Amino acid sequence: MSKSYDVIIVGAGVIGCSIAYQLSKRKKKVLLIEKNKIGGEASSAAAGMLGVHSEFIGDQNLLNAALRSRDMFTELSRELKEISGIDIELSHNGMIKPACSEIEKGQMMKILQLSTDVEWLSEEDVARLEPKLSKGNHHGGLYAYRDGNVSAGKLTRALAKSAVKLGAYIQEYTPVISFLMERNRCIGVKTLHETYHSQEVIVAGGAWSSKILRGAGFEICGLPVKGECVSVSACKQLVERTIFTKECYIVPKRGNHYLVGATEHPHTFDSKVSAGGIHHLLGKAIDLLPDLAFARLEKSWAGVRPKTDRFLPYIGRLPGRECLAVATGHYRNGILLAPLTGILMADLIDSIEIDPIFGFHHERMLK
Ligand code: FAD
Ligand code: GLY
Repeated sequence: MSKSYDVIIVGAGVIGCSIAYQLSKRKKKVLLIEKNKIGGEASSAAAGMLGVHSEFIGDQNLLNAALRSRDMFTELSRELKEISGIDIELSHNGMIKPACSEIEKGQMMKILQLSTDVEWLSEEDVARLEPKLSKGNHHGGLYAYRDGNVSAGKLTRALAKSAVKLGAYIQEYTPVISFLMERNRCIGVKTLHETYHSQEVIVAGGAWSSKILRGAGFEICGLPVKGECVSVSACKQLVERTIFTKECYIVPKRGNHYLVGATEHPHTFDSKVSAGGIHHLLGKAIDLLPDLAFARLEKSWAGVRPKTDRFLPYIGRLPGRECLAVATGHYRNGILLAPLTGILMADLIDSIEIDPIFGFHHERMLK
């Protein structure tokens, strides 16, 4: 295996794999280094919602980015199937956000003004589209009819496998322990047993990015936020669309499987599943969809979301360091934002200017 590359990417979650795929398409020689296995952390814990309208209330920049990224999925899914043979299970099933209070209804009305592909559903409309939802506990809802979902684990693996088919190298079970620096220029990375050289290094280490970057003397504000999920299977279809509320969401997957998520526990890297977490999620989900009580419990799991001290991810070069960039902090929307992030980072490596909204604010970021 060669030890010199155009680009080394640290972390093979959905973000690192998407960047590796886009760079490989542009014929760059890429090495992706992962401390465990591909997609073994947040990226396979995710529910896979492409929920442009679920969590971006009030941030027009992020909403626009999310719309762009979501609309890349149809073409990406076709490409990945062709190159890797993996079906990422893209479904354009839409999402309903029931308004559980008048205040929530008011907030949702604001989203209606910001985005074009959402509409308002009265209580009767919601009941007509999803007759098994319980009635009388909402005031109608927002219908994001173009939102959808994918299998997050399959997306990550398909990106990784496609990158390899296009020439990328992946090294699993290999933690990066430090960077090779020549003054302020990053010229590669060190693992326990090897040293690898490259023109550029990109850190895509999810919730671990701040710890990794500390090795290059750089502080970014990273906050881990654990999330628990549970899946059930039913004998018949319970809902066709994703149902999203503040307390829980229900995502229909192929074959009458339903994924119920997710809790939020900040400041922890612990990924154990608590009985209380699952009790809370299932209780809220059964309130929304009573037939869920008869579904068969399948499995539960947890993952750690990468949050930052702002609502935007960090996607850009590190100020004061040459040839070292980062793509992290996608928090609750890394699956949705992965296609766009891959392209932005490939543009950055190709010296194409990227949208400054994602970049760093020097005065806050430099140590
Ligand atoms: P990760 O997937 O965590 O990948 C980072 C990788 O870096 C890991 O594999 C890790 O092992 C590796 N790494 C760390 N340190 C090192 C090192 N020193 N050397 C080498 N490798 C290293 N997003 C959506 O868009 N839609 C959803 O429906 C959704 N649902 C979610 C539900 C839950 C329960 C959770 C937890 C998250 C959800 N998300 C969702 C968010 C999404 O999962 C994340 O934003 C996304 O996976 C982040 O991807 P990442 O590649 O940055 O991080
Ligand atoms: N976006 C869903 C979650 O992070 O739980």
